Parts: sequence; structure tokens; C-alpha cells
Amino acid sequence: MRIVCIGGGPAGLYFGLLMKQRHPEHSITVVERNLPYDTFGWGIVFSDQMMQAMRRADAKTAAEVEVAFNHWDDIEVWFKGEKIRTTGHGFVGIGRKKLLNILQARCEELGVELIFERDVDSDLEFPDADLIIASDGINSKIRNRYEADFAPDLVVRPNRYIWLGTDRLYDAFTFDFQQTEHGWFQAHIYKFDDNTSTFIVETTEDTFSAHGLDQADQAQSIAFCEKMFADVLDGAALRTNARHLRGSAWLNFNRLICGKWHHFNGRSHVVLMGDAAHTAHFAIGSGTKLAFDDAIELARQFEIFGHGTETLPQVLDQYEEVRRVDVSRIQNAARNAMEWFEVVGDRYAPSFEPEQFMYSLLTRSQRISHENLRLRDPVWLEGYERWFAARAGVPAKAGARPLPPMLTPFSLRGLHLANRIVVSPMAMYSAHDGVAQDFHLVHLGARALGGAGLVFTEMTAASADGRITPGCLGLWSDAHEAALKRVVDFVHANSAAKIGIQLGHAGRKGSTQRAWDGIDQPLPEGNWDLISASPLPYLLGSQTPREMTDADMARVQADLVAAAERAVRAGFDVIELHCAHGYLLSSFLSPLTNHRSDAYGGDHAGRARFPLAVFRAIRAVLPESMPLSVRLSCHDWAEGGNTPEDAAIFARMFKEAGADLVDCSSGQVVTDDAPIYGRMYQTPFSDLIRNSVGIATVAVGAISEADHANSIIAAGRADLVAIARPHLADPAWTLHEAAKIGVRDVVWPQQYRSGKSQYEANLTRAGGK
Ligand SMILES: Cc1cc2nc3c(=O)[nH]c(=O)nc-3n(C[C@H](O)[C@H](O)[C@H](O)COP(=O)(O)OP(=O)(O)OC[C@H]3O[C@@H](n4cnc5c(N)ncnc54)[C@H](O)[C@@H]3O)c2cc1C
Ligand SMILES: Cc1cc2nc3c(=O)[nH]c(=O)nc-3n(C[C@H](O)[C@H](O)[C@H](O)COP(=O)(O)O)c2cc1C
Repeated sequence: MRIVCIGGGPAGLYFGLLMKQRHPEHSITVVERNLPYDTFGWGIVFSDQMMQAMRRADAKTAAEVEVAFNHWDDIEVWFKGEKIRTTGHGFVGIGRKKLLNILQARCEELGVELIFERDVDSDLEFPDADLIIASDGINSKIRNRYEADFAPDLVVRPNRYIWLGTDRLYDAFTFDFQQTEHGWFQAHIYKFDDNTSTFIVETTEDTFSAHGLDQADQAQSIAFCEKMFADVLDGAALRTNARHLRGSAWLNFNRLICGKWHHFNGRSHVVLMGDAAHTAHFAIGSGTKLAFDDAIELARQFEIFGHGTETLPQVLDQYEEVRRVDVSRIQNAARNAMEWFEVVGDRYAPSFEPEQFMYSLLTRSQRISHENLRLRDPVWLEGYERWFAARAGVPAKAGARPLPPMLTPFSLRGLHLANRIVVSPMAMYSAHDGVAQDFHLVHLGARALGGAGLVFTEMTAASADGRITPGCLGLWSDAHEAALKRVVDFVHANSAAKIGIQLGHAGRKGSTQRAWDGIDQPLPEGNWDLISASPLPYLLGSQTPREMTDADMARVQADLVAAAERAVRAGFDVIELHCAHGYLLSSFLSPLTNHRSDAYGGDHAGRARFPLAVFRAIRAVLPESMPLSVRLSCHDWAEGGNTPEDAAIFARMFKEAGADLVDCSSGQVVTDDAPIYGRMYQTPFSDLIRNSVGIATVAVGAISEADHANSIIAAGRADLVAIARPHLADPAWTLHEAAKIGVRDVVWPQQYRSGKSQYEANLTRAGGK
């Protein structure tokens, strides 16, 4: 087979040598526009796992890289005058030039033809090639030539960075954060050979421009950075080796995803590899890893399907399929890490203390969790837990294990929660005429006994027509109040849990069947009239609601206030106003469901007017000591709908109206929403609102283990964590999860104590802690 790699970066060279090493009969050429030892850039870093994959693919190359690399385990953060260091992170640093030299030498040794100083314009320059590897980097001409086939999706990210080097050597991967009058700058610093360290400086576009760096040449930019990072540089100079770049040399990162990775040009198969196919931000340092993994996978597919030209289409299909999954996983993690650096100056740096800042930085990609950190650096993590517990008012005794973050107490006004776990509101469709039954007593009572700090009722309607289904809870008469008081009294008498009520109105999603009979489907008979912000049915076959009049609004507000007064009398500890999931108040907030042209529609202030009025009216009748929460759909997940940024605007308005807590859910506003589900998928909304609006939040959604909850709370991404479906499977979720992470000094209900030691012993026997 005749193979031509266009571009002699890590991807092209490594693929060339892997193929030649396994099948010397192939004719393989790598064409590079630069001189052999001429490249931009300083050092690159990858992880220990990458080295293992390279050892398996070509032990000789791996051995040479290993001799040349610098290994280090520590991360050190310079922030607000403190230096904090953790260990166990396992990185390898190597100069880009050194790496390319090793790859070039190995190619030559194996008989790969290397052509330098040839700038290729088109793949058609190699008509005899069976396979052309487009390994020509992020600005790939070959990819651009077949743009319609490869469907590249390129997003220019907002931050600016400049890639510099210095002679000062650092014994840890070092991050230095510096505040200026116009915003924050951060440096990512790592040593990659015996003489040099990479020094990347990054900031936001606004801060960059405010300092006039858009007008600065490279020398001026370097002088600026030397002054800014004088502390960490300790007298050393910064240097550039990007003299080929015109202007300031400050770049924006381009995030690339391609719709298709290979194409037949009529003579040859052309396949994308490395940065030509995808990019991953340097915040997790994986661009070179992805390039190497691509090369390894394509070579592996040849081993599976054979080396004939006839099986090339299958080889390329399989390569694309396998790599796409891994690349998207890394890109997701890289995106999280990249976004962390994009918002750090606004969101975390101003308010976080150095200890929490370090934790937040270490978990920025969300791939490293609390328990991963324990494996990496148990001493540091326990120190952090100790710090967190002390801040939460439960300092650990000397020598004793501190409480993990999720089990620390939390207070809002006069509400004191024993821990941070919340049983999320969940409709049970088991009320009679809105009145709570024995089912509710047992259901909510069991979850209170199960260790959660706070148990919420399902959405409870303030009038019969405010219910979602005939089975939903209500609170509009003495009988409703008495039935709920029975539940509240049980919880208070038998557990340490507090109990909250979620009040709401179903709006256009009302008058439907119980979930198990036909979720969101109108009742077969006995439907009641619906009201909503605008006369838009929820489903095609749903009733069309009436657009609410001023009188409707006054009535609904009065009903909800009366229900809140009943809730106070019934003894609830906290109230949450349901402004999410497309129900009545949510239908006002979303532009997709609010088409009003009066004062209750239009911009954010207009759309929030009615929900805020209800919220304020409820706040006014609550005792000062009782907190009031609001649940928001922080993302409509639909074209033209609310985004997390809109939710933050609303959260700020509710905060000004007296909200103590924002419960950050999403979706269910319109039927054609397309949420991107995944572990902890709504937590970013809580993070945004908590840290940019400055209000306590609840994170919820696909949080299923103590490890998730601890990571979220420890990183300051939420104050409380709500768990819904896992609590249906296990009422004692909190007690069980605490046992699973080895926390033994959690109090079980006295009636159940003899079950505790056996449960823990079984876990230990099964290999737990
Ligand atoms: C600031 C910064 C820091 C980074 N840090 C890291 C890190 O720590 N770890 C990490 O793994 N990755 C890092 N990367 C990413 C890494 O540099 C790339 O992901 C990696 O080099 C991709 O390899 P590649 O072979 O696909 O592309 P490249 O390395 O870009 O190689 C492409 C090659 O093709 C050549 N070429 C282009 N067009 C033509 C043409 N028309 N004709 C002939 N030759 C051509 C180019 O000269 C180049 O040599 C970083 C990137 C940046 C910008
Ligand atoms: C059966 C069921 C009923 C629900 N009812 C409500 C409700 O009444 N009010 C509400 O705000 N959310 C309700 N939700 C949403 C949950 O509170 C929670 O936000 C969602 O299930 C995501 O959390 P999870 O991944 O832990 O299940 C309900 C969820 C389920 C599974």
C-alpha cells in the first residue's frame, strides 16, 4: 500500500512509524512544510496512562520518550498570596521539538520517507497514494478542501492566551493567578526539559483589551507578563519562539469537531487525524494524546481487517467510530476544564478561599472526583475535608476523620440542616382530592428516617385546578392542612430531618392522568379548565389553556399565599415555589411559552413579573426565620428558549425578592426539548448561579453516589444536593452512601441500629471500606 501523511506533527509521524514497523512492505511518506527541527511551541504534557499505551504500540519509541521526559506528580497553585501543593497527579512533560525529533529519527530508522520543506496544497498532489492521512493540524488545508464532506464545526473560544517559555525550572505543575484592576490573568507553567519550562498566560478578551494587549507586539506582551508574574518568575525572563506569528501572538483556542473523518477523492482515501480532526484545549493537555491515540487506533484497525486496499473503507469506518467516542469523552472533559479557566476570574477567584479554589481547580474537568483525589493525595484531601468541616461548624477532633462535605450541616435563616442531602420533590399521584394519605406518611416518613437532611413533598397545589393530576397533593382546606401536619409531625418527632413543601400550580400541564396511566395525557373525563401565560397547548392533543387575566393572577396569587400560611401552620420548615418544568409560573418565565404582549411578557423583567409577585407575596407572610426557595428550569434545552444565562438573570431577580435558595433543575418546558443528559448534567447551572449571583443553590439531576455529592459540595458548585430517583430505590440513601464511603459515625434511627453494624460489616466483606 502507498500511504502519504500530509503534515509531520505527532499524528503523521507516529502513524507513519507504527505502520512501517508492523508492515515494512508499505511505502510510507510523511510530508512536512517546515525544516526537520523547526517547530513552534515549547513543552507538551501527557499522563502516565498515555505512556502505557505508547509502550504497547511501539516500545522503542516509548523508551526513548521516557528517557527524555520529565516526570512530576505535584500541582502547586499560587493564589491570593498563598501557595498550595498537592501530589499524586502523575504527568510527563517533554519538549515538542524533542518529541518530534524522536519520532522523526524512528521514522527514518524504520524506512519511512520524510520530506521536509514541502507545503502541500492538495491531496491530489499524490495521485498514486492509496491512503492519504490529513495530519496537517488545526488549519488543515486538506480538511478545508472537502469541507462539505468533513463538515467541520469550529468554535472560536473567548479567552486569549500566549505560549511562552522560561529558563526557570519548576518542580510542580504550577498555576499562578494574578488580579489586576481589569480582571484576572492565569499562568500554566510546567518544566519539560532540564533547561526550560512552558509558560502559558491566559486571560479573558475583556481583560486582554482593557490592558491594551490587542495593540502590543510580542516584546511588549512579554514585558507585561514578566511584570505580572514577577513573583513566580523570581527574576527569570520569558521568551517566545513564535516569531513567525504576526502581531501580538495572543491566540484564541479553536474547538473543532468534524461530522465525518474520511472521504474518497476518486483515487485515494483521505482520512483526518490529530488536530485536523478534533482539538482538545491545553487546559487538560490532551491534544498530543488524541493524535497518538488516533494513530494507534488506525494502525490497530489494519491489524483487524487486513492491509489490503479493498478493506480500507471498513478500516476507516471502524477507526472513525471507535475514535469518535473517546474523542468526545476527552473533548467534554477538556471543555469543562477550558470553561473553568474562561470564567475563573469572574466566578471563583473573587470569592473562593485558596483551599476551595485549589479543590475547584483540581476537579475542573469533572473527571476527577472526591474519591479520585483521595487516591491521589489522601493527606491533602483529608486536610481539605478538615478545613471544610471546620468552616461548616463541625471541626473534627484531632486524629478523627472529618465529616465528608455532604454530611456537614448547613443553615439558611432559622433552618438548620444536619447534612446537605435533600429528597427532591417527587409527585406520587397518591392523594385523594388533594389530601395526603397514609402513603405520604410512610413515603416521606421513611425518607426522613433514611438520613437525608431535608425532605421535600411533591408539588402541592393551592387549589383543585392547580393540580397536575387528580392524584396530586393539595393544600386549600383544613383537611389538607391536617393531613400534611400529620406527616410533618411524624418527621419532626422521629428523625433529625427537616421537611419542606413545594408549592405550585400546574398551569397548562394540569388536568392530566396519573403518570402510570398516561403521563401528560388529558383525563378521559372530568377535565377542568386550564390557565397559562399564553394559550398554547402542551401536547398536540392537550387542552388549550386560557391566557391568564389580571383576575386569574390575583386569584392564583391569593391561593398560593393562603397555602403558604397553611404550610407555616402545619409546621413545615421551608417552602419552595415551583417555577420550573413548564408549570404555571415557569410558563411565564420561558419565551417559548410566554407570548404575551402586556406587562407580563417580553423581556426578563416582564416575564418574571407575575412569578416574582407571587414570590414576594409569599415571602411577606412567612416568619422571618423561615427560608423560601425557588425552583427554576435553568435551561429549556430548546431553540429560542431560556439558557443558563437567562436563569442567572432570573435567579438574581428572585434573590432581590428575598429568595434564600435556588433549586437548579432544567427542561420539561416544551415537548421538543433536547437535554444533554449525563452524570451531574444540571450541576453546571447550580455552579453558575451560586457563584455568579451569590446565592445558595441546590444541584439536582443524575447525582447518584456520595462521591458525586461530595465533589459538588466540596468544589462550591452547590450548597445542597437533591437526590430524586435514587431515593425511590433506597429510602435510606444517605445512611447507605455514608457507610459505603466508610463513614461510621452517622446516627441511624435508634430502632434500626442493630442493622447498622451488620450493613457495614457486609460492605467490608464485599471489599468496601
Ligand atoms: C498553547 C498550546 C499548548 C498545548 N499543550 C499541549 C499539551 O500540554 N499536551 C498535549 O498533548 N497537547 C498540547 N497542545 C496540543 C498539541 O500541540 C496538538 O494537539 C498536537 O500537536 C496535535 O498533533 P498533530 O500532529 O495533529 O498536529 P500538529 O502538531 O499541529 O502538526 C501538524 C503539522 O502539519 C504541518 N503542516 C500543516 N499544513 C501543512 C501543509 N499544507 N503541508 C505540509 N505540512 C503541513 C505543520 O507544519 C505541522 O508540523 C497544545 C497546543 C497549544 C496551542
Ligand atoms: C416520579 C418523579 C416525580 C417528580 N415530581 C416532581 C415534582 O413534583 N416537582 C419537581 O420539582 N420535580 C419533580 N420531579 C423531578 C425531580 O425532583 C428531580 O429534579 C429529577 O428527577 C432529577 O433528579 P434525579 O436524577 O435524582 O432523579 C420528579 C421526578 C420523578 C422521578
